[in-house]
Amino acid sequence: MSNEMGIFEVMYNCRAMRRLDTREVEEEKLMKLIDAANQAPSGSNMQSARWIIARGAEVKQRLADLNRKGVEGYIGNQIQNPGSLPHQNKDKRSRMVDAVVWQMEHMHEIPALIVACMDFGAEVTPAMRAGGNGSIWPGIQNLLLAARAMGLGAAPTTLALMDTDAVAEALSLPNTMAAYCLIPVGYPLGNFGPVTRKPLEEITRFDQWS
Ligand SMILES: Cc1cc2nc3c(=O)[nH]c(=O)nc-3n(C[C@H](O)[C@H](O)[C@H](O)COP(=O)(O)O)c2cc1C
Repeated sequence: MSNEMGIFEVMYNCRAMRRLDTREVEEEKLMKLIDAANQAPSGSNMQSARWIIARGAEVKQRLADLNRKGVEGYIGNQIQNPGSLPHQNKDKRSRMVDAVVWQMEHMHEIPALIVACMDFGAEVTPAMRAGGNGSIWPGIQNLLLAARAMGLGAAPTTLALMDTDAVAEALSLPNTMAAYCLIPVGYPLGNFGPVTRKPLEEITRFDQWS
């Protein structure tokens, strides 16, 4: 028990870990991740989250192909010129883009691609899909924190899921279900470390904003 990480240590060190080993992740560990996700709250306690653990070569390849399309469309022009953000200099941004490209090239080899879905019990409308976000992301974050605590690498990704028809076909989703996040999971190749975030003074006010 004593060598387990505390909750704050986990939160402050839960970086997106994109470079992952091909070594298989034990099924009981994968199920523990879903169990952690399943403890999260949902609106009206509907518990509509559903989790698909893609392990088969064919389904992983299909998701990897969709991710490639999404990544090339979204960051294609940044691969040569990553740019920068006020809180992320060119160097850091360039390292992130490199990791995204690594993940794109190796997605099909990653041992488990976990897809977080919602099942609404009726044909999904755009409003239902949008409303589902609030009830799926707490579980996704639980899963990411649990992975970090267990020494597994993981990252939330959405670029593979933009073509909703292709995703539904790849995963045989009924029309009552929508996919929200693809979380590649495996043993890390890179080092775990602390996240870098904006300072609290910049993002917090008491009572009113200005
Ligand atoms: C809603 C959402 C969508 C994301 N989509 C992707 C994605 O498609 N591909 C990817 O590599 N990372 C994706 N990320 C990961 C972010 O890039 C990452 O969390 C952010 O850069 C912070 O990284 P850090 O936690 O390592 O500091 C996504 C994160 C969130 C919250």
